Amino acid sequence: MSVPPLRRTGPPAGGIGPSGRADFGTGGGDPWPRLLRQAGRHLGPLTLRGPDGTTHDLPADRWADAAGVADHSVLDRAVGPVLDVGCGPGRMLHAAAARAIPAVGIDVVPHAVARARGAGGLALHRSVFARLPLEGRWRSVLLMDGNIGIGGDPSALLHRCGGLAGDGGTVLVEVEADPGLAIIGDCTVVDGAGRESAPFAWARVGRSAIREVAADAGLTVVEQWESVGRHFVRIARPLRTTSARERTRAFAATATTTAQITASAIP
Ligand SMILES: C[S@@+](CC[C@H](N)C(=O)[O-])C[C@H]1O[C@@H](n2cnc3c(N)ncnc32)[C@H](O)[C@@H]1O
Repeated sequence: MSVPPLRRTGPPAGGIGPSGRADFGTGGGDPWPRLLRQAGRHLGPLTLRGPDGTTHDLPADRWADAAGVADHSVLDRAVGPVLDVGCGPGRMLHAAAARAIPAVGIDVVPHAVARARGAGGLALHRSVFARLPLEGRWRSVLLMDGNIGIGGDPSALLHRCGGLAGDGGTVLVEVEADPGLAIIGDCTVVDGAGRESAPFAWARVGRSAIREVAADAGLTVVEQWESVGRHFVRIARPLRTTSARERTRAFAATATTTAQITASAIP
């Protein structure tokens, strides 16, 4: 099936924050940080307003709940160390820990990081585009819950995540059911009380459109699956030919470094 090229729609927005742009759900009425500050697991409702004004319900309650069957289908394919990009309250970190898979989350919203840590996860307050520990040595990088949208340039994000994963690593991405969906533009997030965020760059990508995005990033979709109505792809970087000895040394170094990061990065 031919997939339309990703398109940018709507005028660029004036932004906030050090990059000059807002992040997902921040600024304006700050709906996302506000929900994360609430106690308990009930977060929603939360709506994404797209560049053309259409709205899309976001399952914020699910993000704060325990990992479900579909989340576990992703962890079934994950090898540690795992980097959960945009981890929110950290359900994937807790589920990974229960499987003894080493995992670290990153999020730009301090309240998300605090919640993830509060529930025992390892999380850093860091953007995926900032310098990160273990660059090139994460074995699995997660982009769950629409996080392929982060930054509003999915090819650039996948290229970055492919670099974080390194040779032979994989990027596990949640995509949308609508196969050809390929929207990039300035969005806002609105909560149940009508509080709206500042505009931020975001993208939504369907399960067929992701192939072109991956190819743009020099990566390949190697598996696609559905679980409980959610859609995912596993994206791989081509494996450099290395000797078995080199691979063993790399994995040993990774395990040591993960332990060091865990010890040093978490206050
Ligand atoms: C669509 S929500 C996904 C929800 C999240 N996976 C959860 O379980 O709560 C996007 C998440 O990515 C985070 N985020 C946005 N931009 C980011 C960036 N540049 N680097 C890391 N995280 C980011 C947001 O703060 C938010 O928690």
